[in-house]
Amino acid sequence: MNFTGAHILSISQFQRQDVDQIFSVADRMEPYALRKRVTRVLEGAILGNMFFEASTRTRVSFGSAFNLLGGEVRETAGFESSALVKGESLQDTARVLSGFSDVICMRHPQEGSVADFAAASRVPVMNGGDGANEHPTQALLDLYTIARELKAKGRNIDGLRIAMIGDLRHGRTVHSLGKLLSLYDNVQVTLVSPKELALPEAIVENMRSAGVEVSISDELNNSIANVDIVYSTRIQEERFTSKEEADLYRGKFRLNQAIYTQYCEPNTVIMHPLPRDSRSDANELDSDLDNNPNLAIFRQTDNGLLVRMALFALVLDVVDKVDEYSHEVRWYNSRQN
Ligand code: NCD
Repeated sequence: MNFTGAHILSISQFQRQDVDQIFSVADRMEPYALRKRVTRVLEGAILGNMFFEASTRTRVSFGSAFNLLGGEVRETAGFESSALVKGESLQDTARVLSGFSDVICMRHPQEGSVADFAAASRVPVMNGGDGANEHPTQALLDLYTIARELKAKGRNIDGLRIAMIGDLRHGRTVHSLGKLLSLYDNVQVTLVSPKELALPEAIVENMRSAGVEVSISDELNNSIANVDIVYSTRIQEERFTSKEEADLYRGKFRLNQAIYTQYCEPNTVIMHPLPRDSRSDANELDSDLDNNPNLAIFRQTDNGLLVRMALFALVLDVVDKVDEYSHEVRWYNSRQN
C-alpha cells in the first residue's frame, strides 16, 4: 500500500509486505526510542490526540512517538471536556481539528466511529480503538513483539502457535490480532474464552479461510500446553450492560507461575495488551510472573513506541529523512550502560 497520507483504520487494509515495511521502519526507530539520538524530522508538525475513552498507554505512546520524531502533541481526553457534549457531530469535530493538526489519533467507544471521523478529516487519522471493533496499532505492536521474541529463538512468525485468552468477544486487540495473523503461514490459534465471550464468528471464519488452524476451548490449562505465545486479555467490563454481568466472567482464566511451570513449554512467551486487571477477583496475570523472563508485557509497550513512530514516519513520508535531521543526545541517558 502507499502509506503517504493514508488513514490507519483496520488491519484489513494491510498485506503482508506492508507489515514487513512497518516492522523494518520500526527497527530503524530504536536509536531514537532509546535516546541514543534525537531527531527533529517532524519539527513543526502537530498530532491531534483525541481519546474519548479511557486510555493510558495508547494515548501516551502515540504522543511520545510523535514527540520522539520532533513533533508537537495537542490532546483532548473524555467527552466531558469536548464539544461533543454540546451535540457537535464527529464529522464537524473532524473538519475543525484537521485544520489544526497534521495527523490525528483517535479512540472512541463506538464501533466504526474512527472511520466516520476519518471520512470527514483533511489529514490522516489513526484508529486508537473504536469500541469493540479494532485496535490496529496494538495488533501491529503485538505482532512486532511476537516476531522479536521468536527471532531470539531462531524462528519467524510462520508456524506460530498462540493461545488467545479471555474476553475474545469484546476485545478489540484480539479482533485485530486475529486478522493480522491470517497474513502468515501455518499459524495455529487456540481461542480460550467462556462460550458467551467467544471471538466473533466472522473473524474466526476469515482466519480459517486464510489457512489459520483455529481450535476453540473454554479451559485454560491444556490450551497453554503446546504454544509459543500465551496472549491473555482483560474482561472488557465497559462493554457489558452491568458490572454484575462482567463479574460472572472475571477471574476465570488466571495465569500464575505455578500454572505456567506445570503446563507451559519452557520459554513460552506471556503477553497481554495491558492493562492487566490485578484486582484479586480478576488477577489475569499474577504478579508472581513478574520475574519470569518470558513475561513480555513491558517489551510490548516499549515496542509500541517503535511501531507508532514507524507509522507516523510512513504516513507523513519522512522515513528517509529521520537520520538526516538527527543529532546526539545532550543529557544523561539512564537507558545506556
Ligand atoms: C486495550 C484496549 O484499550 O483495547 N488496551 C490497550 O490499548 N493497550 C486492552 C484493554 O483495555 O483491555
